[in-house]
This record gives sequence, structure tokens and C-alpha cells, in this order.
Amino acid sequence: MTLSSTTPRPLIAGNWKMNGLSAALDEARAVAAALDQRPAAARVAIFPPSTLLHRLAEAVEGSSVLTGGQDCHAKASGAHTGDISAEMIGDAGGTLVIVGHSERRTDHGETCQQVAAKVEAALAFDLEPIVCVGESLEQRQAGEAVAFVVGQLRNSLPASLKGKAFNVAYEPIWAIGTGHVASIDNIFEMHAAIRAELVARFGEQGAVTPILYGGSVKPENAREILAAPEVGGALVGGASLKAKDFLAIVEAA
Ligand code: PGA
Repeated sequence: MTLSSTTPRPLIAGNWKMNGLSAALDEARAVAAALDQRPAAARVAIFPPSTLLHRLAEAVEGSSVLTGGQDCHAKASGAHTGDISAEMIGDAGGTLVIVGHSERRTDHGETCQQVAAKVEAALAFDLEPIVCVGESLEQRQAGEAVAFVVGQLRNSLPASLKGKAFNVAYEPIWAIGTGHVASIDNIFEMHAAIRAELVARFGEQGAVTPILYGGSVKPENAREILAAPEVGGALVGGASLKAKDFLAIVEAA
């Protein structure tokens, strides 16, 4: 997807992770129906487990809800048991893909170089990537958070993103699924550092690339987080599983 010249709308992305059986399609339908009634200021995307992607994409077809994959392989096809390719995500109806989520980096040992290769694969099949970065609690306590995240970003973003639509998600690992949200000061400090790196790498494009915050975003804290400077959306885990909570976050954007 090539970039439009206007500033992108905020993106509210619901990452279902390894949650969701067939019945969860009703939640996606409810999100789509509500947005048909009351169009949102933000773009809204749902990232179901890959088993549901095709059916979910069909369930929300014709609505404003976008869909995508939670990960993709760096290769286009081949002998990679259990993996899915960027082309498969597109074939199933998805238009975006999350890459480099901390759970992939931690559970599967994914390196920044592998993440960058996945971004290349996403671009090759016209998917819009959301590239995730974030520090551990130990790194934050050691005062290394900003340097670590900026380094992670530098190594995870290939030069081929120039001119292509993409998003960065800052997700401090200690805030994911814990109920501990980063303070607005922490978020602003990190998003400002990410912005500076994006501008240094991508010029004018980097000045408007959406930087999402993720980590325990809930209906109760979404408004304050989304109003913070340099926050261009949210990557929402737990609170995206129920249409009511997810829509409350969409409404806050
Ligand atoms: P959480 O997850 O909202 O459940 O903290 C966020 C994420 O990992 O994307």
C-alpha cells in the first residue's frame, strides 16, 4: 500500500492473540454494525487468530472494519510447518499484519532482523504492517528503555518502508496484560524518541507515521492515552475481545 499525502487517521487495533472460537465472530459483527450506525473518527482493525481470519473478514465485509494477521513468515511459501505467509493473510481477506509483537519476540525468539524480513514480506504482498517495539521492566528500571526501543526500531524497520503505509506500536512489555499502564510522561517520552528516529529515517513520511501505544489500554484510560501528544492510536489486547469495551476505546479516539 503506498502512502497517501494526508496525515493518517488514528488506528485502533484489536489484537485477539490466542483467543476466539467461532462464537467470537459475533463480537466482530457487533463492532461492524455499531460503526455502520456511527462511523468512527479512527480506523478500526481486528486481528483474530489465523483460524478465524477468513470467516471474520467475510463477517465484516462491506463495513469499515479492517482485518489482519498477528504475524507472518518472512518467506512467501514453503516448508514452514505451522506458519502463515503474508500472501495467505491477504488471500484470507486481511489488509494489515502485526509484526514483532513482544510475545513473538519472547515466545519464539524473533530477532529484529527477522522482524525486518517479515516487514519486507508484508510489503511484497501489499499488507500494511504494524511494527511493535517495547522494553522489559528490567530495562526500564536500569534506565535503558529509550535507547533499547530506539535501537529495536532502527533494526526492525527496513529501508523499503519508504513511501509505504506503516505503523509503529510502542508496547512496554511490563504493561501488556498486567493492568499497569505506562504513565503519560513515559508514553510521551518514548513516542517523542520514536518520532525523532522515524523522521531521521523517513523524513516527512516519518513525521506522520502513526505511533500506537499498547499495554493495558481499557475504556477507562483510553481517552487520556489517545489524547497524549504523538499517540496515533492504540494496540488493544484483552479489551478488544468484547465489542462493548473495544467500541468504547474506538469512541475515545
Ligand atoms: P493488553 O495487550 O491490552 O491485553 O495489555 C496489548 C498487546 O499486547 O497488544
